[in-house]
Amino acid sequence: CLALVLPAGADTYPSRPITVIVPFAAGGPSDAMMRTLAEHMKQTLGQAVLVENVTGAGGSIGVGRAVRSKPDGYTVSFGHLGTHVANGAVYRLGYDLVADLEPVVLLPSNPMIIVSRNNIPAKSLAEFLAWLKAQPGAASAGTAGNGSGSHIAGLYFEQVTGIKLQYVPYRGTGPAMNDLIGGQIDLIVDQTSNAINQVRAGAIRAYAVTDDKRLDGAPEIPTTDEAGLPGFHMTLWSGMWLPKGTDHEIVARLNAAAVAALDDPGVQKQLKNLGLQLPPADQLAPEALGTLQKSEIAKWWPMIKAAGVSPE
Ligand code: MLT
Repeated sequence: CLALVLPAGADTYPSRPITVIVPFAAGGPSDAMMRTLAEHMKQTLGQAVLVENVTGAGGSIGVGRAVRSKPDGYTVSFGHLGTHVANGAVYRLGYDLVADLEPVVLLPSNPMIIVSRNNIPAKSLAEFLAWLKAQPGAASAGTAGNGSGSHIAGLYFEQVTGIKLQYVPYRGTGPAMNDLIGGQIDLIVDQTSNAINQVRAGAIRAYAVTDDKRLDGAPEIPTTDEAGLPGFHMTLWSGMWLPKGTDHEIVARLNAAAVAALDDPGVQKQLKNLGLQLPPADQLAPEALGTLQKSEIAKWWPMIKAAGVSPE
């Protein structure tokens, strides 16, 4: 019979634990999503799937670490619209977000949500915008660093409202959220998945989600269309990549483990409870992530470059 001869390594992959580099601090939305998926993926792969938080420079330090790792399938890059699209318009990365990475799989996405600390005298987005306009350029907006998803969302917010923000960079929006709850900063335009439980607990205030439909799990929060910023839509999608040159059989094995996790009812429940939407069934092949990444670069780079964002 014709034995399928795979390149060395692919046939035994994975034969040891896999490390996924999450380029933001523990406790944030990237970290939460990847740890949820890793918990299931290890069952399919038969090896531990370890999450390593490598932070800084809007996530580009962690992505760079993964890009420069061996293309053997044991170091995976987790990222999203910020790290694998926007960072290319902000930093001299020293690597190419498309040429140096192998897309593995598109992961869940969510709209952004405009949230503030609790003790601001505003009960609606219109009142919040009025409060911001009454102190031009003074409001502090937490981000995960220049080029991060929360930073790009802030830039977009500034563009549609004409309101300047003071950015306060953190190593992830987990730490930023802690300061928002504590009242140290005024707002975050954050991933819904990071803020929704704090909103439900009454620890922070939500004004709108950047989508044309309300969240299934939080129907009381209006959309930006309804709340006075029509067309201010932003979906932050996430994904996994491997270094360019990784054997396609290894890419396929990792893809299959992620897809199995996304198919699991328990994983789906956890993700949906955070306001995350599963990737469409016809967008799960590795190529779909690559196509999306390229189209999002074309979409977002002009706005980011026009905003004149410099590395922090
Ligand atoms: C971002 O704002 O880019 C991320 O949501 C940060 C994080 O996941 O901590």
